[in-house]
Amino acid sequence: RPRVLSGIQPTADSFHFGNYLGALRQWVGLQHDHQPFFFIADLHAITVEQDPKVLRERTLRAAAQLLAMGIDPERSAIFVQSQVPAHAQLGWVLQCLTGFGEARRMTQFKDKSAKGGEGAASVGLFTYPVLQAADILLYRPHFVPVGEDQRQHLELTRDLAQRFNHRYKKTFRLPEPYILKATAKIADLQEPTAKMSKSASSAAGIIDLLDQPSVSAKKIRSAVTDSDNEIRFDREAKPGVSNLLTIYSALTGEGVADLVEQYAGRGYGDLKKDLAEVVVDVVTPFRDKTLELLDDQAHLSEVLRRGAEQAGAVAEATLRDVYQRVGFVAPS
Ligand code: TYM
Repeated sequence: RPRVLSGIQPTADSFHFGNYLGALRQWVGLQHDHQPFFFIADLHAITVEQDPKVLRERTLRAAAQLLAMGIDPERSAIFVQSQVPAHAQLGWVLQCLTGFGEARRMTQFKDKSAKGGEGAASVGLFTYPVLQAADILLYRPHFVPVGEDQRQHLELTRDLAQRFNHRYKKTFRLPEPYILKATAKIADLQEPTAKMSKSASSAAGIIDLLDQPSVSAKKIRSAVTDSDNEIRFDREAKPGVSNLLTIYSALTGEGVADLVEQYAGRGYGDLKKDLAEVVVDVVTPFRDKTLELLDDQAHLSEVLRRGAEQAGAVAEATLRDVYQRVGFVAPS
């Protein structure tokens, strides 16, 4: 079975609909006929300052959300990145293979360091995509299910894999991004030309999976649309309405064209009201299940421990090959 791998940062109390529709739903779907590795990227989280207590809580909340969503520990290795030391270890080797200019071209670093200026950003934030390459290459996956914003990191990953294979010996598989076009970039509800983002969006622009369902419904009803009141899919001219149609279609399985037909001659109010109900039906059981899982932290920790054990075995085998090929003397 082809392998898949992906990760998500534990940097908010809840995942949002961008994470869910752009990536996590694909994780759940790919479990059945693939061999999956899914992890919570806590090493990536500390590239910006985190409160240790909050980071720990959010990591467990992330695990609970993944299980509530349907990630099945019997099918998937679900683990915390810091529990598999090979990620940081391969990260170092790959840093030594990455050009400074190459790292500098990564647009997420430019975006994320824009606020405080480059000087205020950590070196970890700068090398973040190289660690991500290590995360991926350790497992030799065929596919990496992510949203559009990760495409550039996947390209770097392939470049580094190729460079290593060429300089030493064929070691890594070149992974393919698995990006679903329709939901690759879910937009901010208040600023529909920008992506929904836990760091950049306002609270009203994000639908969190763990919001009170009534709050999510209200956010949908207050989403920014345009003033011509015509329901049509056109990302350029009508980004707000198109985003709502995208979310609606993804959650119900109805095609966008069918929805447009269904709402012909009706106003935005109807569309928002119906979508709000669809969203409430999705988030209500999800929220209940997550809160229930969070009540049993011993169980969560045990699931994560087993996941790290499975992942660690695969990752360490790759790292051993890498160390040997680079010329490190193995312990006797
Ligand atoms: P992160 O934690 O920011 O996001 C997790 C996943 O959600 C997707 N996503 C979106 N998709 C569509 N529309 C949006 N508005 C939206 N916002 C977020 C992201 O593309 C991602 O798939 N660097 C990664 C974490 C990571 C990783 C990895 C991923 C670390 N190592 C190895 C894959 C493989 C990140 O920060 O994702």
